[in-house]
Amino acid sequence: MPLVDVGFSIDDGPVPPEVVEFLDEADSRITQFLRSQRDSTNFVSSDSVTVYQSLRAIAAAQLAPGNVFCEWGSGFGVATSLAAMLEFSAYGIEVERSLVDAAQALADDFGLGAEFVHGSFIPPGAEALVDEAYVECSPDSFRLVTESDRAYHDLGLDSYDFDLVFTYPWPGEESVVQRLFERCAAEGALLLTYGQRLSMRLQRKTAGGSETDRDDGYSVLD
Ligand SMILES: C[S@@+](CC[C@H](N)C(=O)[O-])C[C@H]1O[C@@H](n2cnc3c(N)ncnc32)[C@H](O)[C@@H]1O
Repeated sequence: MPLVDVGFSIDDGPVPPEVVEFLDEADSRITQFLRSQRDSTNFVSSDSVTVYQSLRAIAAAQLAPGNVFCEWGSGFGVATSLAAMLEFSAYGIEVERSLVDAAQALADDFGLGAEFVHGSFIPPGAEALVDEAYVECSPDSFRLVTESDRAYHDLGLDSYDFDLVFTYPWPGEESVVQRLFERCAAEGALLLTYGQRLSMRLQRKTAGGSETDRDDGYSVLD
């Protein structure tokens, strides 16, 4: 089933004070975390205001078929927590245990219902597809962890249960993530991808091509 691009405009209206407060605290914890890790982490954070404005626009326009959100490779869990603030049932899956703990602590400290699980967002059975996609796109470096594990099982959900997935892949790994989403998401589900220079791309898994049918790469934001 193909992915088709969905046009949307981000809502660049003011960010509410409670979100600003959350993002300030997240920034300060992320800075501390990165100092303590030096080079031993694969974590780089997306631009949280852009993520918030995109999620808010998607929610306001009711573009997702339902309200179950997942962040693939959730890092510090900022997108997941923002999704929870926007009334999504929000989950994050992350392979680095220290990040899972930090993300859960941050969400809990703000009373958000976001839930984080330690593990891989690659579901069992999809490892071969991911390996094949890697060979085809031959990125400069391999950052994505390609093994699967019990993460979905631990959440009590499977990859078909999510209406909106957010991810920030490393450059060159976008097509791997898209192939995985094509295979593992439900028809109608949305994939929101953060890319370089604050760009966002929104795609829907469909039975056939429709919507804005763009294949010209990241297209929604400059
Ligand atoms: C570029 S960071 C993005 C973090 C966060 N989503 C954000 O936007 O700030 C990618 C994250 O994916 C995690 N990761 C890589 N492969 C993974 C996998 N198979 N399952 C879960 N997490 C993974 C890395 O540990 C890293 O924290």
